[in-house]
Amino acid sequence: MKKLFTLLLLCACFLTPIHADEGMWLPSLIGERIKDMKRKGFKLSAEDIYSINKASMKDAVVQFGGGCTGEFVSKEGLLLTNHHCGYGSIQQLSSVEHDYLTDGFWALSREQELPVPGLTVSLLVKMEDVTERINKGEKAADIAKAAATGEGYRASVEPMYYGNQHFLFVYQTYRDVRLVGAPPSSIGKFGGDTDNWIWPRHTGDFSIFRVYAGEDNQPADYSKDNKPYQPKRHFAVSTKGVKEGDFTMIYGFPGNTQEYVTSDAVEYVAEISDPMKIDLRTQRLDIISAAQAEDVAVRIQYASKHASIANAWKKWQGEVLGLRRLQTVESKKAYETEFAAWAADKPEYKDLLANMSVSYDKAKKEYFVRELFNESLGGIEALSLANSLLTMKSRAKDAEIFAKSAKASHAGFMKNYSVAIDRKIAHAMLAEFLKRMPEGGVPEALTAAIEAKGGVAAYVDYLYDNTKITSPDFDPATLESDPMAELATILTPMRQQIAKVAYRNLSNIPDVEQWYRPYMRALREWDKERAFYPDANFTLRVAYGKVAGYEYADGEYHNPVTSIDGIIAKDDPNIYDYNIPQSLRDIYARKDYGRWASQIGDRESVAVCFLATNHTSGGNSGSPVINGKGELIGINFDRTWRSTMSDIEFDPSICRNISVDIRYVLFVVDRIGGASYLLEEMDLK
Ligand code: ARG
Ligand code: ASP
Repeated sequence: MKKLFTLLLLCACFLTPIHADEGMWLPSLIGERIKDMKRKGFKLSAEDIYSINKASMKDAVVQFGGGCTGEFVSKEGLLLTNHHCGYGSIQQLSSVEHDYLTDGFWALSREQELPVPGLTVSLLVKMEDVTERINKGEKAADIAKAAATGEGYRASVEPMYYGNQHFLFVYQTYRDVRLVGAPPSSIGKFGGDTDNWIWPRHTGDFSIFRVYAGEDNQPADYSKDNKPYQPKRHFAVSTKGVKEGDFTMIYGFPGNTQEYVTSDAVEYVAEISDPMKIDLRTQRLDIISAAQAEDVAVRIQYASKHASIANAWKKWQGEVLGLRRLQTVESKKAYETEFAAWAADKPEYKDLLANMSVSYDKAKKEYFVRELFNESLGGIEALSLANSLLTMKSRAKDAEIFAKSAKASHAGFMKNYSVAIDRKIAHAMLAEFLKRMPEGGVPEALTAAIEAKGGVAAYVDYLYDNTKITSPDFDPATLESDPMAELATILTPMRQQIAKVAYRNLSNIPDVEQWYRPYMRALREWDKERAFYPDANFTLRVAYGKVAGYEYADGEYHNPVTSIDGIIAKDDPNIYDYNIPQSLRDIYARKDYGRWASQIGDRESVAVCFLATNHTSGGNSGSPVINGKGELIGINFDRTWRSTMSDIEFDPSICRNISVDIRYVLFVVDRIGGASYLLEEMDLK
């Protein structure tokens, strides 16, 4: 009886429909979700989201730069994304005289907009299910090549559900993109790394660009004669604001999720990989932070490095907590037991899990070595420089060309480099690498080199006492005899070996992926009630949910909307990340919010950020947040750190994405930037 009851309970929880609001859906198949979306407050049709025949919302969404999302908000190619997505471009355009990162930038006319060399945005022309063609034997590369026919077109065929389906994506890439506006970092990056992944949040994480095109509206190289690109569709902007319970939809390019991996993979992430990476990064961050606290110049030099090391470091901590709290390993194991019972009499599926487990035993070891190598030795800056100069040398046509490019890249490196920090990191990371490498894995030549100097510490001191690569007058002609280059060369075979296991994630290693394909097919045959969606892979997706707070801790509810009152509460001229512009203080003192005022709780203020239940991931930064009428209400930029396990398991009670309220964006453009003319080309509702 008890057994039966447990079984019923298991079935009840595993076979219920997918968690509310979980999922990143393919736009061309959104028709399958539209009923649910409408029930939750969406007022438009599937054709409005994605259409092959007419303009649809997808024409207003772009992939911005390498890994972010952006959206058009005017018929003149005006584009919004995050400040942290525009950061590299803003930095690239900055100089000592024009520090746009610190001070912000506002073009007060089209002529003042700044071209960003190298920056591109890509629009999805169309997507198409090509599974049958692939199954009939056509090559993915041929299909893609045949589809990339227009100006600036690029196409790729992407596997979905571990290769059970294949979709063709055709993009058009525009390459004249100009910076129009960016708030000062004290707004755009308000709270810095301290507030990163955190709620309550008060970051005005937006920047504004404009896409330009040739006479014919097609992609063109930069020219002052280019015209603003006229998108087929842009978003109207809602100024009505949001409240708890409102429908939200996110349209963007999430990068990497692994929702269907087995308990083996989750256990590896939660118990081996994440803890190792967190631990090594804690050591690096401690060394960097200590040096930053002592020297303002070093603080600036290492700000961006610190931010990028800390970003994933914090994310992984939330992921581990989340996976443990959800007991994902245990629940996946139970799910697999159920599956195995179902598969027992099906010859094509019955050995799947056992085979997968064998493959994982091997794959996990290789994957760990790769991760350890990257996180430990990869953190030693001088070693990475030596390695990239060696590669440069092997590719350069002659010594003169090499010397020139090596000098340039060395100079770039030295701008933001502290040898004192790097030496400390090298001591720590080399020791960690040796300690954590599996038996017999350390290259013999490395062991010999270390022994020759009498131990790890002595070896690292020898490297830094003798290398010339860390000094300003480094001569590229001496590269090969430099001790740092010698170490790089010792590690080359290992690096090459690792490059072979450079897969996107733990379920994408060929050895295990061969089992995931039938496993995924079997899951869909077996678990009929579950609403499956393909894992994120930087292709365009729709996620929908609602504005919602959550219970952060026992008795502690986090409201879903923040306001500038919270900015003022955190304001501190002595802390770099919390030192807001004087103009914002003045506006607050006068309560001079004009049309941007709104009622927040019992007071009049300006809304800044909001939480919602959308399933998002890295790559969704900059994504448009859309209300039920298809109007823009915010720009997505983050999640709370305790929800980051959503890349593996989504928990509707905890998982929240963080967006900047579009009214705060407009307020900053208007009142801080003095660029209200930009509002005139938007459709404000
Ligand atoms: N956590 C966000 C994301 O993963 C924002 C990162 C940028 N901000 C920062 N303070 N490092 O990209
Ligand atoms: N901040 C992330 C990004 O840059 C978004 C996320 O991971 O939630 O895409």
